[in-house]
Amino acid sequence: MHDENLTAERPSFVTHLECSYTTERHRADEVHNLSRAGKPLLVRYDLAGVRKALSKEALARRPADLWRYRELLPVRRASDIVSLGEVVTPLVRLRKLARKLGGGELIVKDEGRLPTGSFKARGLVMAVSMAKALGIGHMAMPTNGNAGAALAAYASAAGIRTTIFCPEDTPEVNVSEIALQGAAVYRVNGLIDDCGKIVAEGKTKVGWFDTSTLKEPYRIEGKKTMGLELAEQLGWDVPDVIFYPTGGGTGLIGMWKAFAELEAIGFIGNKRPRMVAVQAAGCAPMVRAFEEGKEHAPRWENAQTIASGIRVPQAIGDFLILRAVRESHGFAIAVSDEAIQAALGEAAREEGFLMCPEGAATYAAYKQALADGRIRRDERAVLFNCATGLKYPLPPARRTLDRHQPIDYTAL
Ligand SMILES: Cc1ncc(COP(=O)(O)O)c(C=O)c1O
Repeated sequence: MHDENLTAERPSFVTHLECSYTTERHRADEVHNLSRAGKPLLVRYDLAGVRKALSKEALARRPADLWRYRELLPVRRASDIVSLGEVVTPLVRLRKLARKLGGGELIVKDEGRLPTGSFKARGLVMAVSMAKALGIGHMAMPTNGNAGAALAAYASAAGIRTTIFCPEDTPEVNVSEIALQGAAVYRVNGLIDDCGKIVAEGKTKVGWFDTSTLKEPYRIEGKKTMGLELAEQLGWDVPDVIFYPTGGGTGLIGMWKAFAELEAIGFIGNKRPRMVAVQAAGCAPMVRAFEEGKEHAPRWENAQTIASGIRVPQAIGDFLILRAVRESHGFAIAVSDEAIQAALGEAAREEGFLMCPEGAATYAAYKQALADGRIRRDERAVLFNCATGLKYPLPPARRTLDRHQPIDYTAL
């Protein structure tokens, strides 16, 4: 089906890139990794120009995918868009669980519907489209699985070579999908930051482009669309609170940026959701730094959790995550693997919603925060289920039936 978002030339209002720490300006339309100060770069737009060029009504008439927000995205030419069908993900209400808990409206944004089964598609479709625009021929990345899968898929579609490194215990399905989608993928006996060191060293030795979280300026612009989409789906409003499973934190930082841009173009007011960074108890550097009032979050040693996507011992955007959480009057919260597992089972059994462990962590955190009073019972909360639960090892179902024997129907 024809999608005019992918073919119509619409202006991007990018003006420059800005160091997230020093605010120093860097030129747009050039290959960049970190800023000259060694910090993530943020894309800046002529928001007054967007305000004049874009109306809510015009947006509403466009096809329902993330490319509808082109004026607020960095890709300038339609021919550089590498799309696999980035649908608007649904908001699913967990009515039964909300009623059972006696809480307010409980909504899940289900990112598992995106290409490659996770929200990593949002970031990587943008990074790969920009890589295509800038003539990059080889991309490398450390990954806990989902980001690598999205990079492999989009880069293969764009004809770009990829080399990917993941911790050796990354779920089998992730490693297989990465390989099948055309990347050279290596299991490494270490964690994601150890993989990141290999990518950083290979940058000069092999000449590949380092596509690590926040060392590349455009993944965050893709993740930003979660915030744009959410506000539009809520009738240009924001929820009271957002629970985000936080690893590298791109999505949390991206949504925070989205809300500021939406206010600047007059689409929403100054109300903001409280941003809650959810981590696993076995890997909670942001929670520790938040509670200690620190600006940066030192490495978490011996990181362990079943929620592999958020097993990120150290994040280069730590100060941006903590800044967004604090500015929003939110908080950072850790949940145990047992609580994650219980939350996953509860949502699947009672709502028919099979979350990924990282998504289930947000539900576990919501329950904890409702119980300890950090979330009020009249508040509207949005949880992010960032990947399909089908990408993860599932517990075996053991009941069998021998059709050649008489069946005792009273026991079924
Ligand atoms: C399923 C899942 N949830 C959450 C995350 C963390 O995302 P972010 O890097 O935006 O914090 C990841 C990242 O690997 C993931 O795969």
